[in-house]
Amino acid sequence: MKTEALEVLKNRRAIRKYKPEQITDEELNAVLEAGTYAPTGVGTQGVQIIAVQTPEYLSRVKALNAKILGREGDPYYGAPTVVLVLETEECRTHTYDGSAVCTNMLNAAYAVGLGSCWIHRCKEMFETEEGKELLREWGLPENLKGVASMALGYPDCEHPQAKPRREGYAIKV
Ligand SMILES: Cc1cc2nc3c(=O)[nH]c(=O)nc-3n(C[C@H](O)[C@H](O)[C@H](O)COP(=O)(O)O)c2cc1C
Repeated sequence: MKTEALEVLKNRRAIRKYKPEQITDEELNAVLEAGTYAPTGVGTQGVQIIAVQTPEYLSRVKALNAKILGREGDPYYGAPTVVLVLETEECRTHTYDGSAVCTNMLNAAYAVGLGSCWIHRCKEMFETEEGKELLREWGLPENLKGVASMALGYPDCEHPQAKPRREGYAIKV
């Protein structure tokens, strides 16, 4: 049994407070690469991963997510890096592909000592004109659909404890 991998999968938690210090390129690359090795329907690899670190884009992405949430503040909890996961709807499995990619990256983040948190509303973000404008500026097709996004950075909190797992979560038949 590869216990190290299983420990990572069990111990990763959603981190909701980050240090302002930026992560290293090596750490970011390890997380992004893990995303690219996630399973995708028919192996299409149609997912587009976007790592956002420049102050201008970081604040525009965070503001867009906050606007959809309808709340002031940073929905990414001060994380210095935001990773967006999108895919064209032409891939019939786009929601599943993007979710698998995001999950790989969350686990990889924990494996390299980073904190991460899946942040919702990526779909709605890229349905807006502001979202489409970002895609244009990044030289990406406007028909990309948001699937998931994540906060990434060094945790600035105690590592959270997992809640007990629900009885009957997994059954054998
Ligand atoms: C689809 C999805 C959307 C999520 N959206 C948010 C979010 O917008 N904000 C947030 O703080 N956490 C979000 N989370 C994180 C969950 O709240 C978190 O994974 C859950 O509470 C379990 O905690 P754990 O990840 O530490 O096990 C999301 C998770 C998933 C899978």
